[in-house]
Amino acid sequence: MVTAAFFAAVPAAMAAGTVSLPKGYEKWEKSKQQIVDDKKSLFYGIHYTYVNSKAMNTFKKKGTYPEGSMFVVVQYGIRQEGGKPVQGKKSMIVLMKKDKRYKETGGWLFAGYTPQGKSSGIDPVKNCYECHLKEAPDRDLVISKYADFR
Ligand code: HEC
Repeated sequence: MVTAAFFAAVPAAMAAGTVSLPKGYEKWEKSKQQIVDDKKSLFYGIHYTYVNSKAMNTFKKKGTYPEGSMFVVVQYGIRQEGGKPVQGKKSMIVLMKKDKRYKETGGWLFAGYTPQGKSSGIDPVKNCYECHLKEAPDRDLVISKYADFR
């Protein structure tokens, strides 16, 4: 079966929705708690951003990120308790990884995951890239800033 062999040879990383979350990202440098309490925002909730060491230099200075740079955002729900926002359940995880093979999304892999870390099979062009391009065209598509990190 030529066809099966051919597909088996395609790197798993190139097939949308099959890239797993990087191991050990919880040990990367982590942002402070970021609270978005505007209900109209896509990021309504509480989130933390993790940055790997490859990305850190550029994240501090701005510029083009080296291959293998990664950002992970872990998103939680939010509820008000006595007028104060309180962290709820984990609701989703997103990943950006610099990989020049992903040409149609600016040289970044964009991937979304369930709270359990399973791929959510989201279309990265319509659902991720376009907004990142709009928000951070001059920052190599990275929207968060080191200044807001700590
Ligand atoms: C409507 C706009 C929008 C869409 C759509 C969107 N994002 Fe983002 N993303 C943002 C904003 C704004 C931030 C910065 C949040 C903050 O300040 O912490 C961000 C941050 C991130 C970060 C941390 C690095 C960075 O750029 O700051 C990752 C990783 C990420 N998003 C991945 C994704 C993925 C994967 C998708 C698609 C499933 C996605 N995003 C869809 C607006 C968007």
